[in-house]
Order: sequence, then C-alpha cells, then structure tokens
Amino acid sequence: MYYPDEVIEEVRLKNDIVEVISGYVKMQRRGSNYFGLCPFHNEKSPSFSVSQIKQMYYCFGCGAGGNVFTFLMEYENYSFEEAVNFLAQRAGVSLPQADYSEKARRNESKRARLLEVNKAAAKYFYYQLRSERGQAGYRYLKERALSDETIKKFGLGFAHVTSDDLTRYLKSKGYEDKLIMDAGLASFDEKYGVHDKFWNRVMFPIQDGNHRVIGFGGRVMGEGKPKYLNSPETMIFDKSRNLYGLNFARTARAGHMILCEGYMDVIAMHQAGFPQAVASLGTSFTAGQANLLRRYAQEVVLAYDSDGAGVSAALRAIGILKEAGLTGKILNLEPYKDPDEFVKNLGQDALRERLEKAENSFFFELRMLERDYNLKDPESKTKFYREIARKLCGFSEEVERENYIEAVAEKYHIGFENLRRLVVSYAAQTGMTAMAVRPKSGIQKKADAAENKKKPQKLLLTWLAEEPELYPKIKKYISPKDFTLDLYQKVAEKFFEDLENGAFNPAGIVSMFSDEEQQREVAGLFNTKLMKLSTKAEKEKALHDILVAVKRESLHYFTEQAGVDVLMLNQMIEGKKALEELSKTHISLD
Ligand code: CTP
Ligand code: MN
Repeated sequence: MYYPDEVIEEVRLKNDIVEVISGYVKMQRRGSNYFGLCPFHNEKSPSFSVSQIKQMYYCFGCGAGGNVFTFLMEYENYSFEEAVNFLAQRAGVSLPQADYSEKARRNESKRARLLEVNKAAAKYFYYQLRSERGQAGYRYLKERALSDETIKKFGLGFAHVTSDDLTRYLKSKGYEDKLIMDAGLASFDEKYGVHDKFWNRVMFPIQDGNHRVIGFGGRVMGEGKPKYLNSPETMIFDKSRNLYGLNFARTARAGHMILCEGYMDVIAMHQAGFPQAVASLGTSFTAGQANLLRRYAQEVVLAYDSDGAGVSAALRAIGILKEAGLTGKILNLEPYKDPDEFVKNLGQDALRERLEKAENSFFFELRMLERDYNLKDPESKTKFYREIARKLCGFSEEVERENYIEAVAEKYHIGFENLRRLVVSYAAQTGMTAMAVRPKSGIQKKADAAENKKKPQKLLLTWLAEEPELYPKIKKYISPKDFTLDLYQKVAEKFFEDLENGAFNPAGIVSMFSDEEQQREVAGLFNTKLMKLSTKAEKEKALHDILVAVKRESLHYFTEQAGVDVLMLNQMIEGKKALEELSKTHISLD
C-alpha cells in the first residue's frame, strides 16, 4: 500500500459507494441494499447489489465484489493507485506525496513509464503507417480489406525496415535504453547494440480493457518467418490475463463472446459488426482468460481455424471453458479457413446465420472423436460408443447427463436404454459410484467438499457484517484462529479487532489486500447469501449451528496439523473442549 491507511480510509469514507456506482449502474433500492444489472457480466435480471451499510458491492451472479476502490479497478481497469487518486480528486481530498513506500513508488512509476513508452511507440508506428515509408504497410492492410476506420480504431501501425529508428525516436523523446528494452521494444546484442525488436512489419498494438497499450504484435507483410512477432511479457503485459479486442468487446453485450485465434480474425469480426470478438495473445487460451470472459458472458463461441491445429486448440479451449463454468459453442466456418476469410467471402449475414447454428461443444467433441473410429466395423463402433459413455460420465449433474444421453442416443441412433446402461456400467467399472466425480482443477469453482468446509466461516463473517452487535455474544466461542484458511484468518483478525474496538469497517478490510482476486474473495466473505430467518428461535438455532460448524472444522484442521506439528496439539485439545461445550450451549440473542 502506497498511502498511509488513514488516508485511504479518508478517501473511501468520503466516497459513498452508492453514489459512486450510481454513476455507472442504474440501481433501485430494495430493503437496505441497491440492486442493478451487473456491469461485469451479461445478465437480464439484476443480481448486482450494493450495500450502503457495508459500503460494498457484490454480484450474486458472477461473484464480482469489493469496495469502492475495487469497483473502479474492475470497471475502469484502474490500478489501486489510480482508483485512490480518482476518488481523492472526486471528494477533494489532497493526497500526500511523500508517504509512498520507496519500492512501491518505484514499481508504480515503472508501470506508468512502461505504459507511456508503449503509447509513444504506438503513436510512432501509427504515424509511420501514414507516411511515405509506411505505404507498403498501408497497402498490405488495404489488401486485407481493412477500412480506414478499422485501421484507426485498432490503432494499427507500421515498423519500417530500418532496425533502430524506433529506439532513436524514443531516445530523442527522453526514454532511456533500459526502459525501451524493459518494454520489449528493443533488445541488445554485441553486434548491433540496442536495436528495435520490430521492423518491416505491420503493427497491432495490444490494449488492455481500458485502451492502454500493453504490448504489440507485428506481422510480416506476405510470407516470411515468423509470421507474427509479439512483445515479450513485461510488468504490464501478462499474456494469460488479457485478450485482444477486449477493450471493445467488454461493452458489446451480445449475450455471448466470440473467441478467435488471431488478431486479424478479431479485427475482421469487429469490422463486420461483431464487436464481441476477442483472441488470445499469440499463446494458447488460458484459465485466466476464461475467467475474464466470464465477467461478460456465460456463453463463448469458438471461432477457431478449421484446420487440424485449430480443431485441437478448440478442443483444449472447450475444456478450459467448461472448467470455468462457461458454455462453449463451435462456429462452423467451412469451407473457409478462419473468420477473417469467412466474412471476406460470405459477409456479415452469413456469419450471423452460422452464429445462430453454432454447435454445442459436446457434440463437436463427439464428432471429432468419431473420426478415429470406423463405424462400419462392429468392434470399432463398440469402442466408439464406450468412449461416448465415458464422456457422458463427465456430466456430474443428473438432469444434464440424462438430457445428453437422450440427445446423443437420438443423434447416433443408439437405443436410449442401451446407451444409459453403457454409461452406468462404465461408471460402475471405474468405481465412479455416484458418477459425480469430475475432477476440477481448482482454478474455478473449488471442489464442493472444500467449498462446504469454508461455507460456515463465510456465513459467520457475513452475518457479523450484517449484525455487528452479535460480536460480543460469539467472541467467547470463536477466535480468528478458528478460520482455517490463511486469507479468512487475516480478515477475521482485522475484523474482530475492529469490532473489539467498537469500529465497524468491512469495506476497509478489502483494501488490506493488494491482489485483485483476493479483494474479490474478501468481498465474497462479507456477502454470502444468508437464509431468511424470521423467528428468533430460528436465528438462534442457525447461529448455533454455524458456530459449531466453524469450531468443528477448526478442530478438524488442528487435528490434522497436530500430526505434523506438536504445537498444534494444544490447539487441538483446547478446540475439542470448546466444541463440546459449544455444542451444549444455547446462544441467546436477547
Ligand atoms: N501467432 C503468433 N506467431 C506466429 C503465428 C501466429 O504469435 N508465428 C499468433 C498470432 O496471435 C496470430 C494467431 O497466432 O494472430 C493466429 O495465427 P494464424 O491463424 O496463423 O494467424 P491469422 O490471425 O490468421 O493471421 P493472418 O490472417 O494474418 O495470416
Ligand atoms: Mn487468417
């Protein structure tokens, strides 16, 4: 944190979250909260809530959540620093300059400098494209059917054949060698000294969600290797957490996003009227990118190349989307190779039609699988059906699985009962008694068991955030140590300390964490859905059960640790006593 905590708190307190968010989202009051359509994912009925009391927002649909700073960080893609600055200005708070920690200030200004030098480079390339020397590039883009408007919108540019002119230009503007190299715009070797990374290429600036240039891709004109040259990862360029075109696609609100393989595909799609298209950045699609997409739509249409490499990339992407809880569909671009060629030849309406007919990703997987079998040979055919059965076991939800069995049976002319028996027998053979076990990688929705363990801890924190007056009643039984996850424990420590001092400040706790994912998780802790309980007896019972559950999990945790750590043994013995006592205690809310 770069400003003293008091300053950050002052800025936060002077910016009421309801007022700030009202500037971006239309909201209606319902009870003590405000509700509106979530700006971070696409939805038709409001699940985005803002609490004036907690000074936090939370979306029950996509899990986005945080305080007024996080909101701006997510919505405007600000860094924490920028969010603080923006809100300080909004509320007329003057920020001290000297209190930055030295390292933090260096990092922050390094990021700012990198953005600056990238912007300067993008401008340079942009003007080169329009200069005499850039005509080859301009002609190339024109041949690829890009309009002037599109070229401008994507800020396309040109790096001409001299291999040190960008570096020279940037140095003349006062940027030092080291910065230029750290930005990945130049490299150094014995023979050539500091020289441009990009030359004789058309340039695609890669922008973050907030239109800031974070890197470049450069394409050779015509044949030549490598076809694309991309900036290396830098402090500001994380290829696994950004998507090309997202700066426009995030506000497209088409109900789905289109994921392409390449820059040119995205640009062609946007030009044809599909601003919901994005692409990964010269690397394969990642879980981080799936998470990013999840904020904007539930469905992702894959518009990958129709060649072998495209198909295997699509199959990989389907898996990643599924893990992230997204629905994948596959766009059929035949007889063309990629979206770019498709729209160039068949145009917008044809593409819209294909979008409507995009194939369910499961059927796509089966169709690709089918190619490995000879369905005229009974043995091979049987193997194929077994493989289908195996894949069907992957649906953990019964209704969904049954629906798929039905659809697959119809499509492949297998008797429904036969296929069902095959699925059941496959599950039995492999010991999947409940058929519900599809291992998840943990990047997304964590396994249910782990989730269940955390639940009581979350409920307790949320409840305390809603009714801080409960604190004196529960503190006898629960201490921050009982929160078994590191993050939860940190939150509980601060929260309990505040409550002990008669302070109440959940939104401030969010700012203790500098990592955006952590802030989101902390916000989630204070915003679990609580059951509606009407009578006092019901509430007392629920509170009792939650406390017991938290205590039990903490005991369980200490017991496990005690095996490896003798110090934990005491914790365990104490915990056991406390749990026994708590189980018998009636907690009165009077
Ligand atoms: N790519 C890359 N380096 C290469 C080839 C490809 O980084 N040598 C990345 C680029 O991000 C490119 C994407 O992979 O946009 C898809 O590659 P490809 O399908 O070959 O490129 P297209 O976008 O179709 O490019 P073009 O239409 O210009 O040939
Ligand atoms: Mn192409």
